[in-house]
Amino acid sequence: MAKYDFKTVAVIGLGYVGLPLAMRAKEKGYSVIGFDTDKRKVGLLKKGQHVFKDTFLQKNLLKYPFKVTDNPKDITGADIHIICVPTPVDSKHHPDLAPVISASETVAAHCKKNVLVVLESTVNPYVSEEVVKPIFEKAGFTVGKDIFISHCPERINPGDPKWNVTNIPRVVGAFDKKGLEMSLQFYRSIVDADIRPMKTIREAEAVKILENSFRNINIAFVNEIARSFDKMDIDVKDVIQGAATKPFAFMAHYPSCGVGGHCIPVDPHYLVERAKESGFNHEFLKLAIKTNNDMPTYTVERLQDALNENRMPMKDTVVGVLGLAYKANIDDLRESPAFEIIELLKKHYCKVETFDPYVKSQSSMKSLEAILKKSQALILATSHKEFTESLTPALLKKHGIKVIVDGKNCLNKDALKKAGITYKGIGR
Ligand SMILES: NC(=O)c1ccc[n+]([C@@H]2O[C@H](COP(=O)([O-])OP(=O)(O)OC[C@H]3O[C@@H](n4cnc5c(N)ncnc54)[C@H](O)[C@@H]3O)[C@@H](O)[C@H]2O)c1
Repeated sequence: MAKYDFKTVAVIGLGYVGLPLAMRAKEKGYSVIGFDTDKRKVGLLKKGQHVFKDTFLQKNLLKYPFKVTDNPKDITGADIHIICVPTPVDSKHHPDLAPVISASETVAAHCKKNVLVVLESTVNPYVSEEVVKPIFEKAGFTVGKDIFISHCPERINPGDPKWNVTNIPRVVGAFDKKGLEMSLQFYRSIVDADIRPMKTIREAEAVKILENSFRNINIAFVNEIARSFDKMDIDVKDVIQGAATKPFAFMAHYPSCGVGGHCIPVDPHYLVERAKESGFNHEFLKLAIKTNNDMPTYTVERLQDALNENRMPMKDTVVGVLGLAYKANIDDLRESPAFEIIELLKKHYCKVETFDPYVKSQSSMKSLEAILKKSQALILATSHKEFTESLTPALLKKHGIKVIVDGKNCLNKDALKKAGITYKGIGR
């Protein structure tokens, strides 16, 4: 017998995190209300239309329909409020907590007493204590008495064929025992995996920041190795695959033309900034962020080298950029390195064309065939299956492509070189 009688769940923020969560709660028998301030998105969802391409969502959106609203009054009856709003950085890389603040204020203004509020957005340690809790106190609640607040950081990896909201283990931290118990009961009812209680809410916040900083640092390391190996004529991909045969104490990470998405390039800034306030300077992490941020520039340098080898100038050469999304087989453009690559190419007076089969509306060309026909050189910025399955030496030769920079190291280097095409990867 469940200890707490949760019937209705309100999900605040219907994005890559909130939408699958809302659907899963509905699938598990909860009555679900999805609230979002984006009226256009709410309109589309009400009509059952997709707001982004994601196989898991597309499969389940119609199967588990839930109420969608942009009216905050609609969340009033919920027993659980889960905040899944963005946590971006501003142009100076400072954390922007405005969405977390406004979503917390919305919940505090409309929720009943004795409900559970969960923050799922990625935040640095102390945000629940310093930002979220005071909002509820100001609204007249006493945390641990008539409102219960926890943090359960989301780990979802959109587009992942194996891991999704149903099976990714979670951690949860709360301000008090009852908040923790309530959260454990709810997450154990919707996730078929371990839900680990953390001793404090601050520890739960730190878990997520550790995970994503770990990734940022490891990617930076292989990006640096790639640049070193380019000088030494060693194929970094082969070497990483060799190293990965060690069954312990090595974890393969791969270099590329840049790190994108809403998490890996963003979250470490939250740690850097908050640690600075507490008197610690994260030099290693800052260097990792810089190393990753330099990769679009390095990618364009690789193109310049390849063009030089063919006695081709940058100026007026038509360069086709294949892929705008930050990762394969999805349409998420956030922090995608493709855009910086395009800007850098334009600064070098290249003529730039773009094509992304998942983001046709923002592509200058409407098909792969069309961009190949128009381009003299290519930069592959996203390893969409539409590219990896089609970019054969024969096809490139047919269109007279002499140069390709493989920003994701996903093409057949040997076959392309054998066909007389100048191939440059990132570290191969
Ligand atoms: N995308 C991922 O892969 C991923 C994975 C794990 C964790 N996260 C974290 O989860 C959080 C959400 O990320 P996302 O990718 O779902 O973002 P998203 O931009 O896809 O969705 C967020 C939604 O929140 C809405 N919103 C903004 N302010 C609001 C408010 N005040 N009230 C109600 N709705 C509001 C936006 O309109 C948007 O629809 C972030 O903190 C992110 O770091 C994201």
